Amino acid sequence: MSVPKLALSEITEAALGKTRAEAVVVGTVQGANGLELAPGAEAVDAALGGTLVDVLRTLGATGKAEEVVKVPTLGKLPAGVVLAVGLGKPEPTQEQVRRAAGASGRALAGTARALTTLSVVDLQAAVEGTILGAYTFTEYKSEPGDAPVSTVDVATPADGSAREHRATLKAATAIAESVLTARDLVNTPPNDLFPGSFADRAKKLAEQTGLDIEVLDEKQLKRKGYGGILGVGGGSSRPPRLVCLSYKGPKAKRKVALVGKGITFDTGGISLKPAANMDHMTSDMSGAAAVLASVVLAAKLKYPLEVTGYLPLAENMPSGTSYRPGDVLTMYGGKTVEVLNTDAEGRLVLADAIVRAAEDEPDYLIETSTLTGAQMVALGNRTPGIMGSDEFRDRVAAIAQATGENGWPMPLPEELRGDLDSKLADLANVTGSRWGGMLAAGIFLREFVAEGLPWAHIDIAGPAFNTGGPWGYTGKGGTGVPVRTIAAVLADIADNG
Ligand code: BES
Ligand code: MN
Ligand code: ZN
Repeated sequence: MSVPKLALSEITEAALGKTRAEAVVVGTVQGANGLELAPGAEAVDAALGGTLVDVLRTLGATGKAEEVVKVPTLGKLPAGVVLAVGLGKPEPTQEQVRRAAGASGRALAGTARALTTLSVVDLQAAVEGTILGAYTFTEYKSEPGDAPVSTVDVATPADGSAREHRATLKAATAIAESVLTARDLVNTPPNDLFPGSFADRAKKLAEQTGLDIEVLDEKQLKRKGYGGILGVGGGSSRPPRLVCLSYKGPKAKRKVALVGKGITFDTGGISLKPAANMDHMTSDMSGAAAVLASVVLAAKLKYPLEVTGYLPLAENMPSGTSYRPGDVLTMYGGKTVEVLNTDAEGRLVLADAIVRAAEDEPDYLIETSTLTGAQMVALGNRTPGIMGSDEFRDRVAAIAQATGENGWPMPLPEELRGDLDSKLADLANVTGSRWGGMLAAGIFLREFVAEGLPWAHIDIAGPAFNTGGPWGYTGKGGTGVPVRTIAAVLADIADNG
């Protein structure tokens, strides 16, 4: 993972005259009478003799969201090109800035050094968007193509103190880096990322960050009775793991448990998936990736919290040792589950991890998973579904909206519970109905959440993995959702309990 180096810089005309940047990024908006420049572009426009709006309009630019137009500076600036990026409607929101910065980050590929003025509109959003937009994953390419921008000078906003600006830059950079950590894990193919290698990567990150980590292998899982993780992982030649890693902050006032689904590849098992798009199931460990990255982030930003991540890691494969439809699993904690469909595996590994998490007596539980295709039917590819206990669910959803990850609250209708009754065991892993599949999965998980524990379940089946083209600050492949939501919830708990 290569992250551009960002540093605050002046944006006076004198400073611009000496910039070492090859490109200067300015924002544009769709004014009532056509394109206008966003705050931060003044000095650039002055250096070009006040012609920038006319030139951009002549080129047909309108300031619409994510529009990118390059204008040569013809010797008037040391930077050869002005990159004008559209923010869309005037008085842009943070998310408009983040997306525009993302579009600029992508367009800067092949440029070694740039100067962005989007930070004058919103420093945090400009930093996050630029880093996220610049990200590429070329680990497996013989010829990686244009390198992402490696240095970005960030114009200092007009208001606020230098100290505040430095703190914002530091936090935004750390948040964006954690999103990239999650993306790298999601983008690593399943032949290289399997339970054992995922656990090794978690160990390495934990060492670098000074986190406590414990990895349970298949023998320990067996001894302790983790029937869900062992059942799902039993078909693979690469045995399952449970990773628990934790950060304890200074004066930690609250304890937060994070649980993430870590199916390193989901074939469906004996209830085999169809061939079309099965390759997307390389992303079925996105929840675990986000949780790992979030614990690392909590440590980097020294949140005054105790944060523990639980990663149940397994590969769901069909083989002679696979679990079968009809099997009954005894889960961690003793509840029994009749498996009616081996493709509803996520809830089985999660149930074990959720029960384990409660043993540490957290104040909150956030669990995230690429859990159901039904999430995409209900909410599409860009909107996580958020379920859980009413109050905490609404709090997490409001925060998800504010971050631009846009999670939306969904109910757990009581009448669906009966559909999970089993003729044989305490519970069946699927209902016999096609309807409300995302909610039924949430209701299954609720059976394993300790009484009275505020919890949120974030289904990211669609939003975790971008199978379409790049947009805003989101490239193809792993998106890193919901790292920024989790980061913001942790910050909110640190502030407000
Ligand atoms: N990992 C899938 C869910 C998924 C589907 C994620 C598409 C991303 C994109 C999950 O394990 C699964 O297979 N769920 C089943 C549940 C069903 C058998 C009740 C599904 O959604 O079809
Ligand atoms: Mn599945
Ligand atoms: Zn799955």
